[in-house]
Amino acid sequence: MSNYKIGLGVTGGIAAYKAVEVMRALQKAGCEVRVAMTRHATEFVQPLTFRALSDAEVIVDDYDPENSDPIAHVNFSQNIDLLLIVPATANIIAKFANGVADDFLTSTYLASTAPVMIAPAMNTTMWEQPATQRNIARLRADGVHFVEPISGELACKTVGTGKLEDVENIVRQAMSLLVQSPKPKVQSSDDPSIDIGPWTLDLTGEHFLITVGGTREAIDPVRFISNHSSGKMGFAMAEAAAARGAEVTVVAGVTAVEPSTHINVVRAISASEMHKAVSERLSDATVFVGAAAVADYAPANAADAKIKKDGRETMTLELKKTPDILAEVASRRHDGLIVVGFAAETNKVIDYARSKLEKKKLDIVVANDVSKPGAGFNADTNIISILTADSAEDFSIMPKREAADKVCDAIIKFREEHGR
Ligand code: PMT
Repeated sequence: MSNYKIGLGVTGGIAAYKAVEVMRALQKAGCEVRVAMTRHATEFVQPLTFRALSDAEVIVDDYDPENSDPIAHVNFSQNIDLLLIVPATANIIAKFANGVADDFLTSTYLASTAPVMIAPAMNTTMWEQPATQRNIARLRADGVHFVEPISGELACKTVGTGKLEDVENIVRQAMSLLVQSPKPKVQSSDDPSIDIGPWTLDLTGEHFLITVGGTREAIDPVRFISNHSSGKMGFAMAEAAAARGAEVTVVAGVTAVEPSTHINVVRAISASEMHKAVSERLSDATVFVGAAAVADYAPANAADAKIKKDGRETMTLELKKTPDILAEVASRRHDGLIVVGFAAETNKVIDYARSKLEKKKLDIVVANDVSKPGAGFNADTNIISILTADSAEDFSIMPKREAADKVCDAIIKFREEHGR
């Protein structure tokens, strides 16, 4: 078993009951969990619930006369391998971001040197508030990891982003961070025999290089050609692979979303920049995933100055083919590299995807019918089919993160069957 020590911080939101499930799952994975609650959290779940299930004192107030340790925030914070906050309210995020230490949990955050992971849950408007997003950006810059909230029906009966991520994904991401952390308090993260129960790190030892988002091809200094890729699918791939123990490098073009902080992202805006960034990093990779929507053509001669209309009714742009990054990676592949492409299609989806698999010499192709609602560009969900030379599997609509796990499963299966 893992024997990691986790400080679980619970704050006052309706999703506080989910923290009980997170604690149980972490315990199943062999972690020792100590719980700290804010005063408001105790309005939603009784400390006794956590106390009975963790067999340990639950601290709400440092100064409570019943608290056996007068400097609990220091002792607690220095004996954990991870401080995990589930759920995190906008209020606790604001306090952490500003160094406020007015209760046990906020003092613990300040006194801790352990990695911190925050799983927020709140109403969509509160989540989207510039103040909340500013605080999150500040915490990310401080090295705090976030388990992004998902979209769904919220306690206030509205539908939008702000729902706590699934317990399974929170625990996966927490375990992945622990295993990648440099100095676990109890057991070496390098220990290959580490057993984290049901949260399998079945991609440990793999290094994923993933292209994400859309590229932007300059026409002149103010205009460009691009596409609707948000980066959601590619970042979901990165997060799924990292959560399962893989080392991950992302080469990202233009994206509408950000990845979680523990993903290493290199920005490359045009197809040729992306091509260069991939070429420079390919030799370390064991799996290449082309999830980006790379422009197939770019203006042949981008103007140095803004092109003037000069009364012209039409304008002709000469385009030239961009480097096909995926095809080149497959043709130059080194031993052991698995090459996965995506195919965004609107008709004859499987036929065209299979033809890409063959022409580009891919190991796996993930087809998405981008004409279907809930699939493809900018959606939070996708409808995918996973093809190899001798198999094809169709999946119904699911969150992009779940679809990414299906692709990871296919990569593991391919590795088992083909050894590369
Ligand atoms: O980012 P999202 O909003 O979440 O949307 C996800 C997505 C629809 C962009 C994604 O799921 C997807 O399908 N990505 C590939 C889109 C695409 O451009 O497909 P394609 O059929 O044009 O290209 C086929 C493959 O070749 C892709 O793996 C692409 O990354 C790669 N390619 C294409 C052209 C090029 N010059 N270089 C490449 O590497």
